[in-house]
Amino acid sequence: MSNTIQVSPQRTISGELAVPGDKSISHRAAILAGLSDGTCRVENFLSSEDCVNTLRAMGQLGVRYEVVKGTEEQPEDLLIHGCGNELKAPDQELDCGNSGTGMRLLAGVLASQKFDSVLVGDESLSGRPMGRVMIPLGEMGAQIDARGEKEGCAPLHISGGSLKAIEYDMPVASAQVKSAVLLAGLFASDTTVVYQPATTRDHSERLLNYFGVKVVTEGNRISTEGGQKVTARDLVVPGDVSSAAFWIVAAAVTPGSKLTLTNVGLNPTRTAIITVLKRMGARITDTIEHQDGGEPRGVIEIEGGTLTGTEILPEEVPNLIDEVPILAVAGILSEGTMTIRNAHELRVKETDRIDTVVKNLRAMGGEVEEFDDGMIIPGGQKLKGAQLDSYGDHRIAMAFAIAGLLAESGETTIVNTACVNTSYPTFSQHLKKISS
Ligand code: S3P
Repeated sequence: MSNTIQVSPQRTISGELAVPGDKSISHRAAILAGLSDGTCRVENFLSSEDCVNTLRAMGQLGVRYEVVKGTEEQPEDLLIHGCGNELKAPDQELDCGNSGTGMRLLAGVLASQKFDSVLVGDESLSGRPMGRVMIPLGEMGAQIDARGEKEGCAPLHISGGSLKAIEYDMPVASAQVKSAVLLAGLFASDTTVVYQPATTRDHSERLLNYFGVKVVTEGNRISTEGGQKVTARDLVVPGDVSSAAFWIVAAAVTPGSKLTLTNVGLNPTRTAIITVLKRMGARITDTIEHQDGGEPRGVIEIEGGTLTGTEILPEEVPNLIDEVPILAVAGILSEGTMTIRNAHELRVKETDRIDTVVKNLRAMGGEVEEFDDGMIIPGGQKLKGAQLDSYGDHRIAMAFAIAGLLAESGETTIVNTACVNTSYPTFSQHLKKISS
């Protein structure tokens, strides 16, 4: 992928696409298959930098894997030979690249290992808060030292050991923190319990259950007993609804568009973007066709029209947190007003996404009111093509490529877009396909 994306306004968005595998599920598949007691065939693995880094980290920890479709750099189908909880000490640092999910989930696994390890990341990841996993994992008995320049940030030096179960009341609604604690809980004595302040994506719970580890969810209380075996299972990773979201919005706000997205994950803890767009008047149908690894997947069909802004409810925020950049683009092009509040977490993503969304909307001539926890966007505006920066954030790059397609006039150039490879390496090909 080149380091620039250029787009011109497009009147309609049509065709059919299969978006690549789900990022959250691919990370978890690499980890759980690696901890399993046998060989797992994982198909439609997301061959993006983030997930490949997690796979390589598992490789450094002694997990063997073979690529059966794709390449070493971009594996699509894999045979992962689990080592049944017998990981080995890595002889080098484990590089998580840009991925908060990779680093936080791996910290959960490494907390219980009888060896020392070091997790490192790129500049963005080295500025993101790790205290949120260090605190509960420390309570379980792990020693984790954050040695970054910024307090509480990577590199993380982990001295694992035997863990005790805890009951953890999570202060932030974070699936990454929940998952880190549950993964550590796999190796702890007794029953680990996590209380989440709001429902967050439940891929870890679903996948752990699929791999034979009983995880019980009662409302926002999630529990699992330590010492359970991870049983090898084959898995087909569904397409990523967060990647689909770019095309869903592009088609939904352009009258005359007709787009079909196949094989998309339709896990209800991820589809708030569809619920919200429907509430805005979007004509979207989503139909579940398969259920693999406990994850529903199916087809999304979108017909373009005129949308009306809405207020995002506090409980919806965690389930569309990654879609806020593209939702903001939908809001500015809709009638009425779009209100996105209670979203402080956006400030600690790959970039401060409140800041980067607001800057880029304004650069395209948009009017937006910024708050500490979100933004209010008056609708009915037109966007103008502009020179933009992704600030190294994949979702900003892609959301504003779509904004450029939907602009009233003028070409949009986004620089610094190699970051798109962290989650959607084929984005530019798909962009060409639906807009040609
Ligand atoms: C993810 C959880 C979310 C999300 C991230 C992926 C996961 O982060 O933003 O892209 O796979 O668990 P938080 O759980 O920290 O909000």
